[in-house]
Amino acid sequence: MTSPGLDYDKASLARVYNFYLGGKDWSDVDKETAQAVIRSAPDVPEAARENFRFAGRAAAWAVAEYRVRQVLDIGVGIVSDVPLPSVETCVLAADPGATVLAFDNDEVVLAHARALRPGYGGVLRGDVTDLDGIFKHPDAVGLIDMAKPLVVILAAVLHFVPDAAAVMAGLRERLAPGSVVVLSHVTSTQTSERRVAGMTKAYDDKAISPIFFRSQEEIRALADGWDIVTPSDLVDVQRWSPDGTYAGPLYDTVRVLGMAAVLPGHQQERAHTPGGAR
Ligand SMILES: C[S@@+](CC[C@H](N)C(=O)[O-])C[C@H]1O[C@@H](n2cnc3c(N)ncnc32)[C@H](O)[C@@H]1O
Repeated sequence: MTSPGLDYDKASLARVYNFYLGGKDWSDVDKETAQAVIRSAPDVPEAARENFRFAGRAAAWAVAEYRVRQVLDIGVGIVSDVPLPSVETCVLAADPGATVLAFDNDEVVLAHARALRPGYGGVLRGDVTDLDGIFKHPDAVGLIDMAKPLVVILAAVLHFVPDAAAVMAGLRERLAPGSVVVLSHVTSTQTSERRVAGMTKAYDDKAISPIFFRSQEEIRALADGWDIVTPSDLVDVQRWSPDGTYAGPLYDTVRVLGMAAVLPGHQQERAHTPGGAR
């Protein structure tokens, strides 16, 4: 089976992201792609760091708030050399008894995670567009109980997927009520067409996958059938917090939106109920 990150003629999504975050795990084509993106939108590195912080903050909150101890981080990225707390670090700080499984479709990412991120209960190959391949992965079967709620992290991954709505519908069908999805996604809303076109072209020209900017309404619609947690709602990642008190600056050149959403149909025991979920 081929792995996207093993093609060093093309920029890998994970290595480009590592460049944004200030890491060192990238090659020339990754750097050129990242620099082309940054020329169109100079705020991308800061937005990427805020996205990373959001993922850890929201994951830890979901685990503590809903007392869910099974976490799947799908599209984990290469982040071990980034001096910020990662999803698994934040989750285990919130609940040392939680199990965090990492998935990615890029073998290079998996090799990094296996070698350098000891917080995982397992690091497994999986593609978010093949949910059965993830949930029925032979090495995951004994580690997750699909009859119970899960926290699923989809940070900065669905904007590389042509049919993101199908992924969310697939999760809705497979997950137990009370499961929580933490999701972030780049948006075209309130970003100039010129900048969006420039970033899109940089990925089209050099990367293994295109990037799909979606409008705020399209990203909100990904949560159809889910309850988006309020007051945090769907907001710029640097403004997401369970009590709505984070107030990071808005960027002029790029926006990444984040939300947490709960699959309804389950009488939830919550640690706190700040604004409830809608
Ligand atoms: C921009 S990085 C995000 C890393 C991390 N989730 C974060 O937000 O800090 C995107 C990651 O998603 C992975 N990815 C992209 N498409 C994927 C797919 N279809 N299935 C699984 N992983 C995918 C890439 O290999 C990469 O590691």
